[in-house]
Amino acid sequence: MKLLKKVLLGTGALIALTALTACGSSQKDTLKEIKNKGKIVVAMNPEFAPFEFKTLQKGKDTIVGSDVELAKAIAKEIGVKVEFSSMSFNNVLSSVQSGKADVGISGISATKERQKAYDFSETYYESVNVVIVKKSELNKYKKTNSFKGLSVATQKGSIQETVAKEQLTGAKNVSLVQNGEMINELKSGQVDGVVLEKPIAEGYVAKNDDLAIAEVKLKSGSSDAYAVAMPKGSTKLKAKINKVIKKLKKTDQINKYVKEAYKLSVSHKK
Ligand code: ARG
Repeated sequence: MKLLKKVLLGTGALIALTALTACGSSQKDTLKEIKNKGKIVVAMNPEFAPFEFKTLQKGKDTIVGSDVELAKAIAKEIGVKVEFSSMSFNNVLSSVQSGKADVGISGISATKERQKAYDFSETYYESVNVVIVKKSELNKYKKTNSFKGLSVATQKGSIQETVAKEQLTGAKNVSLVQNGEMINELKSGQVDGVVLEKPIAEGYVAKNDDLAIAEVKLKSGSSDAYAVAMPKGSTKLKAKINKVIKKLKKTDQINKYVKEAYKLSVSHKK
């Protein structure tokens, strides 16, 4: 009887072990899937100059920007074509989870929270938050509590929602899907401030004479820097992407892409 029990227990353990390894090996190889398809689908929200935005090229609406250059470099390294899938920012990460897109490259901050659900590459750009206000009201907003009782817009699904809630004491957060909408609401006086990351804010200010960046100092978390998002368990894909990012960082090429794209984005005033 004892022996039988032992054998049964042993078998049970063996079955459990087999199940585990089967699970491990059946885990998706996202790199292989991309190679088989011959293309990498990149989710992004292209109203985030200089990282991704639309511009007319040869009469055609084209998505350009430093994230676009990064995506192209990744596709080249893997040896596939690149396809951009444009959507609102609050859908970018979920489209990676559902498999509609292979990766998300959209100025995505690799926060601890997001790291629980997604794999992230090495970071490629530091995130610094600022508040845009009306130039005529610049003197009113010097401190994080200057927005008490006032409305501050942030993009839906972005870390700026949390930044505004946690750091702008007493401000009302207005969460909007489109960045352009936030700027319009600021210009028309429906909101009093807009929280965006520095290069994006600078772009809007350069194009809108009535706007300016407030003196208010906001803190950024150490894990707010931008990285490429991919499904959990994308070990091989991550290695490839990291190789590209390392190279582009070493030669300062990412910053060059950001600068070039910035120039292009502000070259024609709205
Ligand atoms: N870095 C911020 C975040 O990850 C904002 C990114 C917004 N990107 C965009 N393409 N609209 O939440």
